[in-house]
Amino acid sequence: MSQTVSYKELGLVNSRELFSKAVAGGYAIPAYNFNNLEQLQAIVTACAQTRSPVIIQVSKGARSYANATMLRYMAMGAVEMAREMGIELPIVLHLDHGDSFELCTSCIDAGFSSVMIDGSHLPYAENVALTRQVVEYAHARDVTVEGELGVLAGIEDEVVAEKSTYTQPDEVEDFVRKTGVDSLAISIGTSHGAYKFKLKAGESVPPLRFDILEEIEKRIPGFPIVLHGASSVVQTYVELINQYGGKMDGAVGVPEEQLRRAAASAVCKINIDSDGRLAVTAKIREYLAKDPGEFDPRKYLGAARDELIALIKHKNQAVLGSAGKV
Ligand code: G3H
Ligand code: 13P
Ligand code: ZN
Repeated sequence: MSQTVSYKELGLVNSRELFSKAVAGGYAIPAYNFNNLEQLQAIVTACAQTRSPVIIQVSKGARSYANATMLRYMAMGAVEMAREMGIELPIVLHLDHGDSFELCTSCIDAGFSSVMIDGSHLPYAENVALTRQVVEYAHARDVTVEGELGVLAGIEDEVVAEKSTYTQPDEVEDFVRKTGVDSLAISIGTSHGAYKFKLKAGESVPPLRFDILEEIEKRIPGFPIVLHGASSVVQTYVELINQYGGKMDGAVGVPEEQLRRAAASAVCKINIDSDGRLAVTAKIREYLAKDPGEFDPRKYLGAARDELIALIKHKNQAVLGSAGKV
């Protein structure tokens, strides 16, 4: 990795002010995962057009896929691209599911303005100690930190949780006080990926545990809460994928009205990765099936990028309520 750089030199912001405005205003900041150029172009375009603050987030896997040095310049490019579109877009570059102190510090030194340290699979005291260590390093550099309590079902990067363990409201106040985190990811029934709920015929998606969320809010009033695993698994994309040679039977996600309800509460960051993956895959499959002779990636990746722009605009405007907040 080349020399250390502060996110401020790249034109990025940390999440602190965005979260306090979002909690007060009853909306959520979107956190979109990206791995490549087209995804980042789509996020910037859609958020600039809808005037939405945004968190662009990178997992450990995405970082090694895209290359750490390349990512620094992509983030700087995102800020400049928005400026050229006529808007000073607040952009947070965030590490998603950081799994070690070393990964977090490496990202901070490379220009990230926010990191998640995910110690949720560790015993409580170890989660507190690891999170505290990251907070001390991050806060000395004005970088914000997300911690996690409770384990989501599904795959959290390399951590596989068979069943979710809901966040225990009794722990949150102690965790926030001891660690000094700026936001807290919780487990209230969401999970990662495209298969969030196993439904039998005729069953509908179970509601999220808003009762747990309310208990958490009582213990830490106004504290920024984060919802992971929040893709809706848009069924039109699942159908397109299946129609054009894919196989994604039983893929189902969190209904939009539940996300709207969460966004109106202290949930001020909503993580979306799978919906973007579905949009891209659906459009590429459709494009190539309809035009099997095409071999210019700009054509099918361009179609995927256009769909991603439409999806993100919809999320900002109709689900998270972040549109118009810049
Ligand atoms: O929560 C995990 C995100 O969807 C990132 O997934 O580790 O496959 O990049 P990934
Ligand atoms: P989804 O798989 O529901 O998009 O969740 C993404 C996420 O939580 C990234 O951290
Ligand atoms: Zn996540």
